[in-house]
Amino acid sequence: MSGPQREENEDDILSLRHHLVNWLFTPLYLLLLFSTVTGYIAALKLSNQPYDLVLTERARLMASRFDLIPETEQATQEYLLPDEAEHLSFTLFDANNHPLLGNATLPRPRPIDFAAEGPRLRSTSLGGDKVRMLTLHFRTSRRTPGTEYVLVVAEPVKDRLYLGRSILGNIVIPQFIFILIAGFAVWIGLKRGFEPLENLRRAVAKRRGDDLSPLDEAMAPGEVRPLIREVNALIERLKGMMDQQKRFVANAAHQLRTPFAGLRAQAELARRADAPPAVRAALEGICEGAGRCSRLVTQLLTLARNEPDARTEENMTEHDLNRIAQETAMDWVPEAVGKDIDLGFEGSAGELPLRCDEGAMRDLIGNLLDNAIRYTPPGGRVTLRTGPGPWLRVDDNGPGIPPEERGKVFDRFYRVAGSGQPGSGLGLAIVHEVAQRHRAHIAIESGEGGRGTAFRVSFSR
Ligand SMILES: Nc1ncnc2c1ncn2[C@@H]1O[C@H](COP(=O)(O)OP(=O)(O)OP(=O)(O)O)[C@@H](O)[C@H]1O
Ligand SMILES: [Mg+2]
Repeated sequence: MSGPQREENEDDILSLRHHLVNWLFTPLYLLLLFSTVTGYIAALKLSNQPYDLVLTERARLMASRFDLIPETEQATQEYLLPDEAEHLSFTLFDANNHPLLGNATLPRPRPIDFAAEGPRLRSTSLGGDKVRMLTLHFRTSRRTPGTEYVLVVAEPVKDRLYLGRSILGNIVIPQFIFILIAGFAVWIGLKRGFEPLENLRRAVAKRRGDDLSPLDEAMAPGEVRPLIREVNALIERLKGMMDQQKRFVANAAHQLRTPFAGLRAQAELARRADAPPAVRAALEGICEGAGRCSRLVTQLLTLARNEPDARTEENMTEHDLNRIAQETAMDWVPEAVGKDIDLGFEGSAGELPLRCDEGAMRDLIGNLLDNAIRYTPPGGRVTLRTGPGPWLRVDDNGPGIPPEERGKVFDRFYRVAGSGQPGSGLGLAIVHEVAQRHRAHIAIESGEGGRGTAFRVSFSR
């Protein structure tokens, strides 16, 4: 049962962790996206500045070169355009807006470009390519003093884009790596942070079903402590209710014991007196019924006494298991003899010290012997053995318990159908409770020679 439950718990912890990571990283990645976009715009702007400066300087240089050529000489485009600026296209216009010279036909300058002296820059596209276009209005001072010209120069923007992207890369990649490292650190941190919870879960999963002791608050992180406190309060209430119920069963059984014993004694007395056969038969029935009720009540009381509770450790003292087993076997000799069963005891050599509740231990062995004697047909053999560990074992050569029934016979009031013997199905439930109280392990095996039944109870020291 603990398997699927455990998986479910792990999933819950995992999803809580995912939840936290999502809440931390979604905003972080959104921020990264935002900073990438703003960074890209800033990088483009930044990369434009130096290129614009160079472009302006080149245009001014071209204008002054043009001014240096005497009016009598024809200016050539190769002369105006330096080698290192071959990627530029330019057209020189005169004051009448006629193209004079150039390596490309660039759009004519607008009237405003003649009005304002100095360079004007704008981004536009030319024949499908994005370019940065500069318009420089200048007057010559040597060639023909005071004549106006407009030089239009266009530069493809792909170099600027390249610079912009490499600036962006230098910002975004470290940022991305930083976020990845932060994510890893947070993940590890969360894993370690959840460790106390995981330890708590393991401690709860390891508990025995009957362990109702409070959970250790110190194991839980501060945030979870109030929850643990509430769970402990709930356990305490539950324990109170269970104790009340157990007390009720124990009290009821105790109260019923005396009337049943009285009933049985009275019926025995009446049976011995002279009475007509029909009345005698009825009294026999009453005697038997009262006997069964007495036994049932005793079994219920024994069960209630051995149910685990806060007093589990009470009455636990050091005893010799060998002696207890031998004495209990002796108690059952009359029963065995009455049924023609060969009851044997094979104790281990020497003492078998065991910390136990002696009365409960006698109940355990007594119920195993009772079953073995009751279910083994007359003429059979029952043997009680003990050994170091310590362990004890009851073998019989009776009908045996089918493997598919072995898991159920320890349930309260469970009986295998067709045994033909009276009983209420509480004997093995008592054996189970006593074994649990003593942290012992019970196994049902086949008896000697593969026949019958063997109950083996192993105690761990
Ligand atoms: N040694 C055994 N051989 C065969 N069957 C057994 C043996 N011990 C127990 N069983 C089977 O297991 C069932 C449960 O045993 P348990 O001792 O719990 O109840 P019970 O003997 O029927 O009643 P009670 O012991 O309360 O009087 C029995 O009904 C019986 O069928
Ligand atoms: Mg029994």
